[in-house]
Amino acid sequence: MRSVVLKKFEFLVFQSRYKNLHFRARKQRATQNIISKLKDKGNEAHRNTLTQNMNDHQEDVVSLHSTFGLSGKTCVVTGGTKGLGKAICDAFGACHARNVVTCSRSGLPEDHEWTHRDSNFVYVQKDVSKERERDSFLAEIKEKFGRVDVFVSNVGFNIRKKTAEFTREDYHALMGTNLEASFDIVRMAYKKGIIGRGTSVIFNSSVAGLTSIQTGAIYAMSKAALNQLTKSLACEWGREGIRVNAIAPWYINTDLAKQVLKNEEYKKSVVRRTPMGRVGEPREVASATVFLASQASSYVTGQILAIDGGFSVFGYAPPDGSTQGRDNALGFGAFKTKKKRRKDPNAPKQVKTAYLYFTEKERPKIIQQTPDMSPPDIMSELGARWKALSEKNRKPYEKSSEKDKLRYDEEMKSYQPPEGYDKDGYGFADDIDGRKKRAKKEPGQPKNVKSAYVYFCEVTRPSLPKGTHPVEIMKLMGEKWQKLSEDDRKPFEEKHEKDKARYETEMKAWREGKGIAKNDGAEGDLEDEEEEEEEDEEEEEEELEDDEVAAFGGDSIL
Ligand SMILES: NC(=O)c1ccc[n+]([C@@H]2O[C@H](COP(=O)([O-])OP(=O)(O)OC[C@H]3O[C@@H](n4cnc5c(N)ncnc54)[C@H](OP(=O)(O)O)[C@@H]3O)[C@@H](O)[C@H]2O)c1
Repeated sequence: MRSVVLKKFEFLVFQSRYKNLHFRARKQRATQNIISKLKDKGNEAHRNTLTQNMNDHQEDVVSLHSTFGLSGKTCVVTGGTKGLGKAICDAFGACHARNVVTCSRSGLPEDHEWTHRDSNFVYVQKDVSKERERDSFLAEIKEKFGRVDVFVSNVGFNIRKKTAEFTREDYHALMGTNLEASFDIVRMAYKKGIIGRGTSVIFNSSVAGLTSIQTGAIYAMSKAALNQLTKSLACEWGREGIRVNAIAPWYINTDLAKQVLKNEEYKKSVVRRTPMGRVGEPREVASATVFLASQASSYVTGQILAIDGGFSVFGYAPPDGSTQGRDNALGFGAFKTKKKRRKDPNAPKQVKTAYLYFTEKERPKIIQQTPDMSPPDIMSELGARWKALSEKNRKPYEKSSEKDKLRYDEEMKSYQPPEGYDKDGYGFADDIDGRKKRAKKEPGQPKNVKSAYVYFCEVTRPSLPKGTHPVEIMKLMGEKWQKLSEDDRKPFEEKHEKDKARYETEMKAWREGKGIAKNDGAEGDLEDEEEEEEEDEEEEEEELEDDEVAAFGGDSIL
């Protein structure tokens, strides 16, 4: 599989090179034609400028190509038979490195393939955690290649334990391989002249060296020390033209990481903490390493390049994803000041948008066709149907809305808002939670009828986990409601019927201007805390509906 992917990669590189060459050749031919015509006409100055431009362009393309490639370079990678080391070797081969030299403890795996024809692969069986084997590995490199262009110290491993459970042997093994071997092999390579002017040294570190990820303190210590070694060497060797950088991967799909990621729960928690929402692939580490190895990074040294889908810069995200708050300049929707609106019942009714006319007509059809559909699904279906509507089919709804707008404008001419209400007939609560300074309700104005579903929500909502996003709450409630049997729904429907009767009686009395005994004393001020809460909830639902109408493509309501 891996070799198929690499072949495809090589093919793409070849294809893009071919296209580039083809394009350059065509352009060159065209320019040469013009040049010869100019020569015929004796226009010498113009001819010279064109010739110069053509040569410059050719140099630019060629130099950009070689900047990002590794043609002619000798690259050493420790531990290149599996995982990230192998992916790095393959990428170096694909980028036409002249020699790719690597080592490992247990020999080349039987299925190991080297498909890069321009590139010479050299394998030596050595254990870099052993001083003597490190030295003999370096001696072979010195003898065959002298100075090398790229030196990647990749080998590393981990033992995951709680700090108190580590043994001294664990400590020496981890520090010996991850830190000491890397430090010593690079130090000795420099002393022997294998690392010299022009060499790019790259350590394979880890995000565990940048921040705590609870995968074992010793591993983290060894990688943090590698990061500091990177910075120290970059400063010490910078004048000699030696660059030193490190890569710091987060979870990457290698055999080493798969041992941990096979635990689905663990993998989920890794993905949750990664802004890009996935673990990385070895080729993604390899391509970043090619950048550090090549001349493309010729002014980059002392850097720890996190290859982590954004993990290391991810601080915190509110649980309800409310960072998209619209009202707050900082975007902290969680602290958004809600404007609780209350409409003067005598104010002209707001204009109905074309979308609203459409939903009034379409909603009953959907409910009839699919009685089990949950309210949020009905809303998405409505949104989708509206979006699919042709201009011609939208026209009747738009006409109705236009007509309604005329009605509204006419009524507004004579409308005088009472004190505390704005010109459109809305009263606002200007405190943060909308409880203290509430807009006054008209004396005796009956409360709206509660549907069976609202009664059901009142009972069910407290059982949902705190902090659940309002849209998610609506979805969950809808689903729960759909699952109720007819018998289970009955008590809520009875409550609704009773409330309907109450509303009709109260409305009648209110219209007749008699007022309602219950509200007389309060003169419309909602002092009862429970009632306020009920109203808050109703308003929240109303607000949500407005939001959703907008989200599904409805016009904003005037
Ligand atoms: N994978 C990740 O998610 C991840 C994340 C952050 C950092 N890293 C770092 O990336 C590096 C490579 O990890 P990996 O996941 O690619 O590991 P891997 O899949 O276990 O591969 C390790 C390679 O190194 C060789 N090796 C191990 N010990 C060696 C030694 N003492 N001498 C010579 N060769 C040795 C192995 O071959 P033999 O076994 O035959 O020796 C193998 O070729 C490590 O430094 C690791 O800390 C990995």
